[in-house]
Amino acid sequence: MSDDGLMVEVANLKKTFHIGFFRKKVPAVCGVGFTVNRGEIFGLLGPNGAGKTTTLKIMMGLIKADAGSVKLLGRDARSYTARKNVGYLPEHAYFHEYLTPMELLDFYGKLYGMSKKDCHRRRGELLERVGLADAAKRPLKKFSKGMLQRVGLAQALLSDPEFLVLDEPMSGLDPIGRKFVADLILELNESGKTILFSSHILSDVERLCSRVIILRRGEKVAEGKLAALLKHDDGTEETLESLFVRKAMESDVSGPPATK
Ligand SMILES: Nc1ncnc2c1ncn2[C@@H]1O[C@H](COP(=O)(O)OP(=O)(O)OP(=O)(O)O)[C@@H](O)[C@H]1O
Ligand SMILES: [Mg+2]
Repeated sequence: MSDDGLMVEVANLKKTFHIGFFRKKVPAVCGVGFTVNRGEIFGLLGPNGAGKTTTLKIMMGLIKADAGSVKLLGRDARSYTARKNVGYLPEHAYFHEYLTPMELLDFYGKLYGMSKKDCHRRRGELLERVGLADAAKRPLKKFSKGMLQRVGLAQALLSDPEFLVLDEPMSGLDPIGRKFVADLILELNESGKTILFSSHILSDVERLCSRVIILRRGEKVAEGKLAALLKHDDGTEETLESLFVRKAMESDVSGPPATK
């Protein structure tokens, strides 16, 4: 952990993708910076294509940034020691469909360098916690979207990391599944974990997050404590939905980011 209590320090992050034969430029992240403090639940918001997943993938070392830096727990995010303490739920988790949740968690346990004994103990606890104990020996190809999301969460929690990075953890879940994940996030936070998650479900963000940033077209358009962002100097208040729409549309001419 860094001495100043920062779990994450992202500075001036930039990423442009090049697609197709003519290497057309798709700017995804254009100079984003933010910090996440130890012990907080931090929300990463923005409309589709705003650059949330790209930012999170860069943080996790899955994509190389063109510029900027990421520090995780005070260390360069590219180092193994920094990432060892971070659990990650990808936006689209692709698991081998013939594996059962138990086998999948064993596989990840090996990747995390856990002993067989620790992994088996933790695996049992987690499958119970995410409500999959009864389905622990069923192949993942028989799982519903919500069940797969729960497997993904168990995978992210397996090594008992201090910091959790969750890319749309409530997406595609029914109201009960959403409540389950929201309650789990709160419970994990109460037990000392720091959580950064992206979401389009603003009611969950309002309920869970102390601070948020809003991205639009790869740029940060709002950042701060949720309560302060929603309460204006003249005493009026705004809902997160209204703030989100206002920030997402501000001086917007048309949909997705322009290509250069
Ligand atoms: N691998 C890729 N190759 C080319 N372009 C990409 C790639 N990944 C993302 N992009 C582009 O980068 C931009 C940001 O995408 P990103 O997935 O980060 O957005 P997002 O905020 O996570 O959106 P959503 O809310 O839909 O998940 C988009 O214009 C997207 O098309
Ligand atoms: Mg995304």
